[in-house]
Parts: sequence; structure tokens; C-alpha cells
Amino acid sequence: MAQATIHFPRGFLWGTATAAHQVEGNNTNNNWWAWEQVDGHILNGHKSGLACDWWGGRWKDDLDRAAETGQNAHRFSIEWSRIQPTPDQWDESALERYRIMLRGMLERGLAPMLTLHHFSNPLWLEDQGGWENDDTPQKFATFVRKAVEALKEYVSYWVTINEPNVYAYAAYSEGQFPPGKRNINACFHVMTNMVRGHAMAYKIIHEIQPEARVGLSMNYRSLFPATASPLDKFVARTQSAIFNDLIPMAAKDGKLRFIFKTVSIPEAANTQDFLGVNYYSRDQVSFDLTRGAALFGRMRYPKDADLSGTGFIANEPDGFHEALKWGLKFNIPMVVTENGVEDHEDRMRPRYIAQHIQQMWRAVNYNWPVKGYFHWSLVDNFEWDRGWTQRFGLWGLDVETQARIRRSSVDLYADICKENGLSSEMVAKYCPEAMSKIFPD
Ligand code: FCB
Repeated sequence: MAQATIHFPRGFLWGTATAAHQVEGNNTNNNWWAWEQVDGHILNGHKSGLACDWWGGRWKDDLDRAAETGQNAHRFSIEWSRIQPTPDQWDESALERYRIMLRGMLERGLAPMLTLHHFSNPLWLEDQGGWENDDTPQKFATFVRKAVEALKEYVSYWVTINEPNVYAYAAYSEGQFPPGKRNINACFHVMTNMVRGHAMAYKIIHEIQPEARVGLSMNYRSLFPATASPLDKFVARTQSAIFNDLIPMAAKDGKLRFIFKTVSIPEAANTQDFLGVNYYSRDQVSFDLTRGAALFGRMRYPKDADLSGTGFIANEPDGFHEALKWGLKFNIPMVVTENGVEDHEDRMRPRYIAQHIQQMWRAVNYNWPVKGYFHWSLVDNFEWDRGWTQRFGLWGLDVETQARIRRSSVDLYADICKENGLSSEMVAKYCPEAMSKIFPD
């Protein structure tokens, strides 16, 4: 058996990622909370409820666990509806809580990366049409100014918007996120407004904190044609251009290239200091005339795929390498802002982690500028429309009792963070079945 250790550059960020609505609990004043109250919206009628009770203070124990297990960074988000509960009111006590949380991260040796928008909107904003309303980018900018002024002392990595591509598709084209629309034009309009909001936020953050590092977190989906048919190839290429490229390209050159028209947003050019890459899996795409809202593409996992607990994620580490290669074209540093798998039993997670880290190491060894990795997620949390049915945590959560459950992935990830690398010994201990893939003889 090969004996080896692969290492990462000094100063590499190793952390986990969370999002306000998924962990805080009692976020009663946002669009998700309202959406969860209606039957049929969330699988099994689940509700976020107390979530991981971070607002009640349990962030402290979870971040203790993160720090004790070798992590040196944490990505989290702040909840707009807490900070600006009504259009003309700021809640200073909410900002103070986030300051305490940020100090808590720094005291534990966790470098904070702060996301300003992660899928949830204040109810008042949603009632005004959310991101379909052309005034929303400006309102977001006002919120960003307030939040950055209050928190700047503790943060130097900012994510303006998490996965604007997923948000726009899920909320406006596929309909599983609030407001549940199925209209591709609305989806494109929302993408446009999110790019505008991002560009305004970028400028404001730099005005307040010139040395800030600001980026978007993009969900990169590796999409490849199911067959050699020109139609499959065409839809795979079109879907990838819209889903993966459209928004970060606009943040590079100020142009949103929709299929039949290009929208110019000159102020969006050069508004990323780093690219946040969220990668989970890859799909085969085939042409399907009935799937207009999905640009006539049907996505499937390959037949022999290594599937997660509910079949939601296929373990496709090559797609991660492809994602990082794709990111090179933006010519800026990259940070992996999410990567993970839902796996209640923790059967696949250890190999998923080890195989993905190996692909990231290949990228780093080509001198691709990857600066850090945030595993999704620290602890099981409220998984949007899929409720509590999917468990992405290194730590499990008993939703009834709030107890945390130590999965073996906790120890694997701790070993990786402490070593700043991955060894054949770790693979032999936690996921021997992946040895020949990661450390072939
Ligand atoms: C991403 C989201 C994150 C989480 C993971 C599993 O799309 O950004 O909040 O739900 O998927």
C-alpha cells in the first residue's frame, strides 16, 4: 500500500459553512418562515423551528467544537430580517449579537467569512416583490452599508450573495423556494437584479474597508451531455452557460449574456476579489421538450453513481476538479465556500471528503489559486425545502433535544485540518474503500 501525505500551502483556510436561517432558529420575520407554515411547501411538513438554536446561544458550543477539531475559519451569514425588521427600522441589538458572535469566532482562532444574503429575505421585502422589484438592489445596498459599518472591525472576507444562480432558479423557475414561481423570464430578471445588488454591495464594502476581499459564492454544477447527440450537447452547453457562467462573467466584464440578448451592467465589471465555489455534484444532461423552464434539459445522475442517503448527491470528485479548472477563467483567487454531502449514517461522507480534498490538492499543485475550503456543514441544519430529511453536518443534530452527535467524519476532517493535508493513514482509517482512488500503488 502506498504511504503518502498530500499537503496544502501554509495559511490555507479550513472551515465549515453555515447560513443564518438554517441554524439560528426562530427567524419568524423572513420569507422562509412564512413559506414553511403552508402545507406542501417543505418535505414532510418540516419547519425550521429552533433549528440549531444559534440565536439562543448554541453557536458557542458548535464553534468550540469547530476550533477544537482543528478548523481555522468559519463561513456564516447574517439575517437581514433581524437587522432591518421593517423598512424604516434598524435593530441595533441584532447587530450587537452578530458582533459578539464574530468576536467569539476570533477568540477561537476562526477567521470569519461573512455572507450578506443567503436565500432569505425580510418579509417586508418579499411583500414588495423581492428580487423581482427593481428597487431591491438599492435596498440591499442600504442594508449592506449598515451591516458592514457595524461589523467591519471583525471581518475581511465578505460574500455578497450566496448562489444567486440556485436562488433565482429555485425561487422563480423551478418553484421549490419562496415565492414558488415558475417563470424563466422572472428568473432571468432576478439574476439581473442580483448582479446589480452584488455590484453595489462590492463598491460599498470597498468604500468602507478598502482592503476587504469580496466575492460571490457560485454553485458550480458540472453538466455533461448524456449522449453524443447534438441536442444533448446543445442543452448541456446552454444550461452550463446560464447556470454556471452567466453571473460570474457579469461580475468580470459587466455583461449578462442571456440566450437571446445581452444585458449590460457596466458597474458590475471587476466586482469580485475572489470567486466562491460551491460544488456538490455533476449531472448528465439530455434534451427534453417538456422541460421548458429548465431550458429543455433533463438532469440525471449516471446509472452506476455512488449516491448519498436520499439520492440527492452523487459522489463525483472529478466534477470538483472541473469546477476549479472552470474557476480559473475569472483570473482571481478561489475559495471553496461549500462542498459536502447529505448522509445521516455517515457511510459515504468520509470518502466524499477525502476524494474531494484530493481533487482540490491536484488543483493547488498546478498552482491554481485555491485559498481555502469550507465544508458544508458544521452541524445538521434546516435544509430548505427538504427540511430535516437531509443531514449535511459533520456533527449530527437531534432536533428534539438539540444534542449533537459526533460522526466519524468529525475526526477525519479534524485530522485533515490539523495536518493541513490528507494522508494514506487517514484514508486507511476512515474510508479504506477509497484508497486505490486517492493513493494508488
Ligand atoms: C447549497 C446552499 C446551502 C445548503 C447546501 C446543501 O445550495 O447554499 O445553504 O443548502 O446547498
